[in-house]
Amino acid sequence: MSFRLQPAAPARPNRCQLFGPGSRTALFEKMAGSAADVINLDLEDSVAPTDKDMARANVIAAISDIDWGNKTLSVRINGLDTPWWYRDVVDLLEQAGERLDQIMIPKVGCAADIYAVDALVTAIEAAKGRNRKIDFEVIIESAAGIAHVEEIAAASPRLVAMSLGAADFAASMGMQTTGIGGTQENYYMLHDGQKHWSDPWHWAHTAIVAACRTHGVLPVDGPFGDFSDDDGFRAQARRSATLGMVGKWAIHPKQIALANEVFTPSDEAVAEAREILAAMETAKANGEGATVYKGRLVDIASIKQAEVIVRQSEMISG
Ligand code: COA
Ligand code: MG
Repeated sequence: MSFRLQPAAPARPNRCQLFGPGSRTALFEKMAGSAADVINLDLEDSVAPTDKDMARANVIAAISDIDWGNKTLSVRINGLDTPWWYRDVVDLLEQAGERLDQIMIPKVGCAADIYAVDALVTAIEAAKGRNRKIDFEVIIESAAGIAHVEEIAAASPRLVAMSLGAADFAASMGMQTTGIGGTQENYYMLHDGQKHWSDPWHWAHTAIVAACRTHGVLPVDGPFGDFSDDDGFRAQARRSATLGMVGKWAIHPKQIALANEVFTPSDEAVAEAREILAAMETAKANGEGATVYKGRLVDIASIKQAEVIVRQSEMISG
């Protein structure tokens, strides 16, 4: 319990974050025309070391040259352990137009990582007289990142979103996996000789959701590598949505509709949530804090659960 109110996360759709390498300019118009809520132009791991300067210049030009509509526009910079990240920040903030909404900082390990980027960004914004403050999003994808997830979520008022990066996370944790997210063959319980697969990402997901919700940050599920496996993507995304995440990355355009489908509350879910709210209104009018809806208990906590679904739906459609 706390007397402090939980801060609200930014009220904007974040169902799908579509990634594309900054070195592949031919994809940019397609990304802008897609149904993704967020566009992530990548300077990091999808760009080869020899292409870093070229990709950075492409991305800076594309921020102004392409009509990104009402999408959230984000650029993933290189990690703080590389020789490229400071040039990414300096050139983006000095040269890119004000259409840039946010930068994504990968592989964060502690709050000081965010502090360092914040100091640089704040100084350049002041020096260049930029009118719009740039937001941050981060990727939790290391043992240090998950160990310090709460201080990272609290690190800067610029921070709006946090994603789990399953592949780098698995490598950093020493997990015996190769796939990027999803079910892992060897992660099962045995009961009566039957295998029951479990979710090795569950702990990291819930830790991220808890840190994000404490500090008003959007929790996002990261990439699902096998873009031929629609059902696998859906299953992973549904688990993330159930745990409180608001969206998922797409690393191929095929995955955009899947993410939008899972992270948009269905008409049935919204109708049921509205019925629960109506049932509780009636209960309140009768002086009751709890009532029965379809044979099950609903009470004042049910109002809050139902409101999550209704608010999400209204925010997306409005
Ligand atoms: N955004 C928008 N459009 C994309 C796209 C993307 N990320 N990736 C592919 N497309 C387009 C292709 O240009 C092609 O368009 P066309 O039908 O007009 O020719 C269509 O979608 C089908 O593409 P396909 O041939 O199946 O894919 P590919 O072999 O060109 O590329 C990947 C596959 C995985 C290399 C590519 O999707 C990609 O680079 N994804 C992002 C990787 C990334 O950013 N990773 C970092 C985060 S983990
Ligand atoms: Mg990564």
